[in-house]
Amino acid sequence: MKKVIFAEFGDPDVLHLIDADEPHAGPGRIRIAVRAAGVNPADWRIREGQVLGAHPVELPSGLGLDAAGVVDEVGEGVHGVAVGDRVFGEGANTYAEFAVLSAWAAMPDGLTFEEAAGYPSVMETALRILHEVGVRSGQRLLVSGAAGGVGSAVLQVARDRGIAVVGTAGAANQDYLRGLGATATTYGEGWVERVRRLGRVDAALDLAGAGVIRDLVELTGDPARVVSIADLDAPAHGVRFSGVAGSVPRALATTVDLIARGRLHIPVARSYPLAGAAAAHIDSRAGHTRGRRVLLVG
Ligand SMILES: NC(=O)c1ccc[n+]([C@@H]2O[C@H](COP(=O)([O-])OP(=O)(O)OC[C@H]3O[C@@H](n4cnc5c(N)ncnc54)[C@H](OP(=O)(O)O)[C@@H]3O)[C@@H](O)[C@H]2O)c1
Repeated sequence: MKKVIFAEFGDPDVLHLIDADEPHAGPGRIRIAVRAAGVNPADWRIREGQVLGAHPVELPSGLGLDAAGVVDEVGEGVHGVAVGDRVFGEGANTYAEFAVLSAWAAMPDGLTFEEAAGYPSVMETALRILHEVGVRSGQRLLVSGAAGGVGSAVLQVARDRGIAVVGTAGAANQDYLRGLGATATTYGEGWVERVRRLGRVDAALDLAGAGVIRDLVELTGDPARVVSIADLDAPAHGVRFSGVAGSVPRALATTVDLIARGRLHIPVARSYPLAGAAAAHIDSRAGHTRGRRVLLVG
């Protein structure tokens, strides 16, 4: 089968599309014929050797956490899913024609493989950090970096829960944020004042790692009301850095429910062929993805 691997940490050109042995579904796992694989910033961070604590890597290694496809092997002890089912979920080495998933759910009706591959990691992250920051219905949440994959998920889950959101994004994404129910403002020079003029905020999420932790503490008045997923300096300001994944099966069940109720849609910014993984990483690393990027397989 075709698979993207890297044999050394480094720039996108360390990625190679090779012929590799197929993986097989061990106990508690399923194998899918991958139709689409989600591209997350974690993927290029792993390729660069940035996050080895959270994601230990043995070289040569495959890449990719998220995928959608058709089940073609069901491991021992797995129930409720059969060969031929269309599923989406999380696993390992999903930039490939076949991949083993450790968590999955049946694909909601009407969703394409391309769309479905974009949800698992961002929804796990969004649900985790909304829980950790402790924001409730009727409160106001500030989201720094609201237009990307995680931001798109946070805004829509918050809207469903009756949480008002103020989101920051570039000028080109102001209407996008409004379409997801948020009050939008731009980041950059003067952004703290612009947010202040919009009223008090009860809690804040840093999704962009743009060096704004001190500002978020000032705007909320309490470091305990701020969570970051992107700024490793957050703890120096008394702010929680969230890096340990929560329950993916629960996140997938919530995703299916929200999509079925018409409350969640994460757009695909652009899709690429499997051979275009390096281009997808370059574009993702540029830091202006609206929604999710996806590799189309097969
Ligand atoms: N710790 C964890 O568990 C965890 C989990 C998932 C992701 N992450 C990290 O969280 C970050 C976000 O992930 P993602 O998947 O949402 O990324 P993404 O899809 O690449 O989105 C990045 C977004 O950041 C916005 N942005 C760029 N510069 C900004 C600035 N100065 N201020 C505010 N927003 C800015 C962009 O909006 P514009 O296009 O409008 O500029 C873009 O939409 C990444 O660094 C990722 O590695 C961490």
